Amino acid sequence: MRRNVALIGFMGAGKTTVGRILAERLGMGFVETDELVEEIAGKPIPRIFEEDGEERFRELEAEAVRRASSMRGVIISCGGGVVLRSRNVEALRRTCVIVYLKTSPEEAYRRTLGDEYRPLLKVGDRMARIRELLSMREPLYRSSADIVVETDGLSPEEVADRVIRALGGVLREGGRRQERG
Ligand code: S3P
Repeated sequence: MRRNVALIGFMGAGKTTVGRILAERLGMGFVETDELVEEIAGKPIPRIFEEDGEERFRELEAEAVRRASSMRGVIISCGGGVVLRSRNVEALRRTCVIVYLKTSPEEAYRRTLGDEYRPLLKVGDRMARIRELLSMREPLYRSSADIVVETDGLSPEEVADRVIRALGGVLREGGRRQERG
């Protein structure tokens, strides 16, 4: 039974902000895989990358996804790289309606300006890095999602409105998956 909602998408898509609004409006709980990772590791994400490497971070993230997807009645804000492992997506599919919050590279760039907390964006040419990562991940976000919601130029409240409307459609279909293409 799909009792949760998972938000996926690139860094800066608004998963956390929109997720909190959705939780409030739908009377659901809220959980973030990034926060669970930090809890399990006992240290912040930049330190995990620095001291243990990205691969270790991905292992912790897989454990966080497993824990989050076994919860009930929660909005799960997923780290941007959760779709890189098919097992994560399978775990989420079992209990969640998966919503892709879509952003253009330009908007992702603007929304992560001055960000010191995302190790993958600590590079000279952030725009090039964003384009590269996003073009690699876009097909994964799309194929993992039940619902795709555009976020460019919208406030978090407006995005939340759209998610709620789209969720209504999926739920009315009796949980049947929307066609994906
Ligand atoms: C990552 C996204 C981050 C965090 C980590 C790696 C990624 O989460 O999990 O820095 O690979 O895209 P947000 O998408 O919440 O920023």
